[in-house]
Amino acid sequence: PNKTEVHNNGQLKIGGVPALNLAEKYGTPLIAYDVSAIKQQIASFKKGLANYPAGGRIIYASKAFSALAMYRLAAKEDIGCDVVSGGELYAALAGGMDPEMIEFHGNNKLPEELEYAVKQKIGCIVVDNFHEIELLDKILAAHHTTAKVALRVAPGIEAETHKYIATGQSNSKFGFDLDSGQAQQALKALLDSPHFDVIGLHCHIGSQIFNAEGFEMAAVKMVKLMKRWSEEFGFSARILNLGGGFGIHYTESDQPLKPEIIVASLSQTVQTEIQKAGLELPELWVEPGRSLVGEAGTTLYTVGSTKKVPGLCNFVAVDGGMGDNIRPALYGAAYTALLAKDTNAPRNELATIVGKYCESGDVLVQAQMLPKFHADDILALLSTGAYGYSMASNYNRNGRPAVVFCEKAKDQLVIKRESYADMLRNEL
Ligand code: LLP
Repeated sequence: PNKTEVHNNGQLKIGGVPALNLAEKYGTPLIAYDVSAIKQQIASFKKGLANYPAGGRIIYASKAFSALAMYRLAAKEDIGCDVVSGGELYAALAGGMDPEMIEFHGNNKLPEELEYAVKQKIGCIVVDNFHEIELLDKILAAHHTTAKVALRVAPGIEAETHKYIATGQSNSKFGFDLDSGQAQQALKALLDSPHFDVIGLHCHIGSQIFNAEGFEMAAVKMVKLMKRWSEEFGFSARILNLGGGFGIHYTESDQPLKPEIIVASLSQTVQTEIQKAGLELPELWVEPGRSLVGEAGTTLYTVGSTKKVPGLCNFVAVDGGMGDNIRPALYGAAYTALLAKDTNAPRNELATIVGKYCESGDVLVQAQMLPKFHADDILALLSTGAYGYSMASNYNRNGRPAVVFCEKAKDQLVIKRESYADMLRNEL
């Protein structure tokens, strides 16, 4: 399963480095990234856009993993990034991202965050609601400047995914609703102000989506909207941003779309629809987060206690859990676990992998057939590169794990393990 590399003796390797060596060198829990896997995904997205005549932009949705090392990598790979807070913007700039390549999202951007984005002259602020339009207009007026903005539309598409991560439906907290006329009203407000350069339109239907249909429907709907607004307002969108949400492989049942295939197909759809509408082809932007980093990350844990009550339960406990990966507890997300020293070990033990947190909901893998784990074994949880570290907490005063980048059989520590003292640094 997944894009894991395995030694000929069955041992797990990450970016060419044996997982057992990483666990030994840095301790556990440890999140290890295969950097070439991230680069391959970026290349695949770029390839999908390669034949699109008006060009486009791959924008890394950095909420998936907002490490400085990741912004540096994005800058080096010449892709953009999406930030959703002042903190992410600060990290992106510190990581060397070109402000022009940064896009700012959010349903309740704070006045100071908007001001920060304005001062940094970032490439695009994606306007989400009426309050923001008013706020941003005032800030721009006060600074005697203008900003490039895109309008976020809730396209009224129900994505097939967990309800917590579906965002395209009309009752979403994100973006302007189409059917009620609010989106139209918002565009008018933007066009009426001298402070906005409205570069285009945005939509995002949700996350961890496998079905191309939702994306295609969104593309068609957005071009129709471009047509309508071109007639109504003489508005011409220079960019069309179709968001992110491309699903990845967590377990056998997941069948992800290949980025180059789905993006090429979307770009074809946009071309066809734009031609029918008789409009000018906009730049095409996509905002993948999970699909750039998710499968590239593996979390290594050390097994501690095991508990078996015959006929009732069989628990394998590891030295991390919901503090470094809240996704199973929050979304019922499923993962694949391996025994790092023998990835081919027979899976003939029905067990539940739990963490060390003081909560029964602290589960990493719900009961399934697994290899037999013993104390001190290194357990590898695959595809933990997205929304793991970035959603990590200090619950129970457990420090957040260390993170290492591995490539061509070399490893580099990119985030230190959080110490007890680190966790007290803000306390008076
Ligand atoms: N663009 C926008 C406007 C978004 O809201 C998101 C994700 C993305 C792009 C990137 O979506 P991706 O390609 O990563 O699916 N914590 C959840 C996911 C929340 C996603 C929020 N928005 C999880 O762990 O599944």
